[in-house]
Amino acid sequence: MKSINFSLQSSIDNADFDTLLLPVFDDGTFPEAAEKWEISGLVKKLIEQKDFAGKAGETLMLFEQKDFARVCLIGFGVKSDLTDKALTETADAIAKAITKSSAANVLSLAGSISNDQISQARVIYQLTLAVQKSLYEYTHISRSGDLKPKEIHLESVTYLLNDREEWQAKIDQAQATALGMALTQELADMPSNFCTPTHLAETAKQLAKDYDFDCDILEREKMLNMGMGSFMAVAQGSITPPKMICLSYNGADKSKAPIALVGKGVTFDTGGISLKPGAAMDEMKYDMGGAATVLGVFEALGRLKPEINVVGVIPATENMPSGNAIKPGDVVTSLSGQTIEILNTDAEGRLILCDALTYAQQTYKPSKIIDMATLTGACIIALGHHISAVLGNNQDLVNDLLKASQMTYDRFWQLPLSEEYDEQLKSNFADMANIGGRAAGTITAAQFLARFTKDIDWAHLDIAGTAWTSGANKGATGRPVPALVEYLVSQA
Ligand code: BES
Ligand code: MN
Ligand code: ZN
Repeated sequence: MKSINFSLQSSIDNADFDTLLLPVFDDGTFPEAAEKWEISGLVKKLIEQKDFAGKAGETLMLFEQKDFARVCLIGFGVKSDLTDKALTETADAIAKAITKSSAANVLSLAGSISNDQISQARVIYQLTLAVQKSLYEYTHISRSGDLKPKEIHLESVTYLLNDREEWQAKIDQAQATALGMALTQELADMPSNFCTPTHLAETAKQLAKDYDFDCDILEREKMLNMGMGSFMAVAQGSITPPKMICLSYNGADKSKAPIALVGKGVTFDTGGISLKPGAAMDEMKYDMGGAATVLGVFEALGRLKPEINVVGVIPATENMPSGNAIKPGDVVTSLSGQTIEILNTDAEGRLILCDALTYAQQTYKPSKIIDMATLTGACIIALGHHISAVLGNNQDLVNDLLKASQMTYDRFWQLPLSEEYDEQLKSNFADMANIGGRAAGTITAAQFLARFTKDIDWAHLDIAGTAWTSGANKGATGRPVPALVEYLVSQA
């Protein structure tokens, strides 16, 4: 994806911009800096005539002005009322207006906006993220006819602001995040006949080459020999080879324990013998959203190079029904030694994650472990499509993740863990069952994972409702890359 040049500039003497981005509030005010151009008179007139009201997200493009080929007016609504939601929607509207035109070099006065709730750094971050992210387009498989990838004219966005180091850092973070999200989106949108475990592994290898990460891929035979009985039980129903994909980024001293990210990589979830109903089953190509998030975060890490060590561990497989597939009631032994009665083959995410969690701890001795997974339909019932669930055994870690989610408006909400829920996993034939009944499905799934993370600070993100959108705008969202990048940067 094309990388836009975002920068800060404190004055505009010798600059050459074809487009001015001018924010306007609904009381008709706009940044004072615009007074020096002839355009300010016209803007005042348009507001007086009520041709432009300054409502949040409203855009109006004016062409062939004296100082600029284009002036893009952007409504920011009531100044004191600018919320994260309004900011996000306005930023997306700006991105759309700019990329739809032939604007190449944009001067933005929108970076100077802030109020009691929204800091200037937040505004710069969100604008940068929205513009860079809007360039994502699914292009992997060519279409017939004249549907060509959209042409991108945009080259640069310059914020008229003091060149403060912290702001430039926010710009860089937002851009790296957007480019990471694009990788996450591309992988998730790719159908499962292309985005196989092997393709995820090849993507990891390419990242390792591009950014000098260490990469290790485990094959089926090795994993069987190692005793990953739970992960391998899910994988045995598919002839597509499963992979355990491991990436390490070393940005700090080797002696410093890494943070481990573990992502569910079910490249297609049919449910297995506990087959899913047919409606919208195509969307189960998105069941590798956790894996795609880990790879997207590594793309961002490669660009940002924070002083921190991070490992990514991705168990990747299909979940298929076949003559060789696991059956309800089968009992398997996980890598941890704990046995599991598989009462429902559609609760496969936890079965592959538990072995990955154990493997990550044994191999990399991380200080903390965070897993992310499109794990439960119950999470969509609890939180819908706007907020991901976070659960964990260490409140400081959960708080840090909640804080990062607030900073990026990539929202998380905590659900509880508690012994009573754990009891729902009781099995008459093994250490535990892989399902805990209908009640509190997101919590019982996390209770299952908690049994494999007893000796480490651990948090779990259920992204079933947020990793993609359904309906007319079906597509991957790239979440929760923004919050995780913010979290990791904050730990550096
Ligand atoms: N990948 C699904 C969860 C899912 C379903 C995510 C729909 C997004 C949309 C997961 O593997 C699954 O099938 N979970 C079951 C668990 C149940 C059998 C305990 C579910 O949520 O129904
Ligand atoms: Mn499933
Ligand atoms: Zn699944």
